[in-house]
Amino acid sequence: MAPTVFFIGLGNMGRGMCKNIVEKAALDRPLILYNRTAQRAIDLSAALGITKTSVASTLAEGVAKADVIFTVLSNDQVVEATISEILAQHDVTGKLFIESSTIHPDTTERIAAAVIAAGAEFVAAPVFGAPAMADAGQLIGVLAGPKSSVARAKPYFTGVTAKGDIDMSDEPYSKALTLKLVGNSFILNMVEQLAEGHVLAEKSGLGTEYLHQWVSSMFPGPYAAYSARMMSGDYYQRDYPLFAVDLARKDARHLMSLAEASGTRLKNVEVADAHLAQVKEHVGEMGDIAGIYGAARKEAGLEYGNQNYKQGTNALHLMTKHKPCTPSTVQLRNLDAHLQQKPARQDRQTYGWSIFIGLAIIGAMCGAAWVFAPKGENQVLWRSSLILSFISCYLMWAITLLAQLHPLIEPRRSDLRKEYIHH
Ligand SMILES: NC(=O)c1ccc[n+]([C@@H]2O[C@H](COP(=O)([O-])OP(=O)(O)OC[C@H]3O[C@@H](n4cnc5c(N)ncnc54)[C@H](OP(=O)(O)O)[C@@H]3O)[C@@H](O)[C@H]2O)c1
Repeated sequence: MAPTVFFIGLGNMGRGMCKNIVEKAALDRPLILYNRTAQRAIDLSAALGITKTSVASTLAEGVAKADVIFTVLSNDQVVEATISEILAQHDVTGKLFIESSTIHPDTTERIAAAVIAAGAEFVAAPVFGAPAMADAGQLIGVLAGPKSSVARAKPYFTGVTAKGDIDMSDEPYSKALTLKLVGNSFILNMVEQLAEGHVLAEKSGLGTEYLHQWVSSMFPGPYAAYSARMMSGDYYQRDYPLFAVDLARKDARHLMSLAEASGTRLKNVEVADAHLAQVKEHVGEMGDIAGIYGAARKEAGLEYGNQNYKQGTNALHLMTKHKPCTPSTVQLRNLDAHLQQKPARQDRQTYGWSIFIGLAIIGAMCGAAWVFAPKGENQVLWRSSLILSFISCYLMWAITLLAQLHPLIEPRRSDLRKEYIHH
């Protein structure tokens, strides 16, 4: 019997990870979902299928049934409070905790010690990748802990939520989080660099289009994606951030404290953090890390939002425009799904029923044609003409609908070079 999994934290990252666990992990029982804002758990359960998931209304309800407990929560205080509550109220002997939030290495060690003292196992498993990558099951997990515990956690990473993992078996838990933070310093610095570059390109008269074209050619992948988010205005227009300003500042704080404790300094991160402080001031907690561009613009005397850039340009279009630079069609499709709010699987299932509803309606119309066709020598002609017309219309409509629903058939670009097409 496969372990029962309980997932706590259904934010941007958690939702995508749950989707892939439900679709690809070996589960004999529904994935149990829990979130502070309960409606998110209810909505996700409806989207992923109510037979494949269940909603726990309290932590206690989920923990009691679970063998494996995932946490993907916003910050150190929340993770520590959640796990302390579980340990204080439940017997967790033999259960496995997989902690995938980005927190300070010292916090991870503290939590791990408490979990192990309670008779459970612990794996520190921070993840790399934006929410679109979580949706696509393309994260990179960093797994640290005793080898046997890491082996228990692995079935939920490569091939399920992740495209690969960095195995730190038998290494201290803190190393996984240290790598996660050092890795995130690259992301902070990348966004800062792009923001400054775009501002200079605009102010100097070079034009941001040329810079974006160059970035896409030199640094396809995350650089091109963030550059596209800046140019398209996505960095200030979205309702809910992809990488919230508070989470980015938390990472910056941890990085600066780690650097100080190690006798070094991260000046680039300090600059990015100062811009993030301005993002928070300007937009509030719905600000996004890419808002660093807005802060850099304001410093240079420009508006926070780049309203004057061609309205209606979307980030996906900008990323695909420069053909040789397209790194991964999977990544692009998922970025687009995030940006354009594609209908959920549940909606597609709803559309699937319309084929049968349409058939019933056409059947009724054919029956009516048979009964009400004018009597006389042309009755057969009337009947066959009407019935054949209805059936032809139905077939045309049904074929078009099925072509859209079929998961294997989707619009494909024919002008991509083979080496840039990943399946
Ligand atoms: N976004 C990224 O690009 C990214 C990438 C890699 C790793 N991470 C890390 O992954 C973790 C989650 O990130 P995310 O982007 O998914 O964040 P998010 O969308 O803001 O979601 C945060 C989650 O934490 C919960 N939460 C917040 N405060 C809470 C509290 N006081 N008590 C209980 N639950 C609380 C939220 O519940 P509600 O729904 O009720 O608010 C939500 O489930 C963070 O540690 C982040 O640093 C993020």
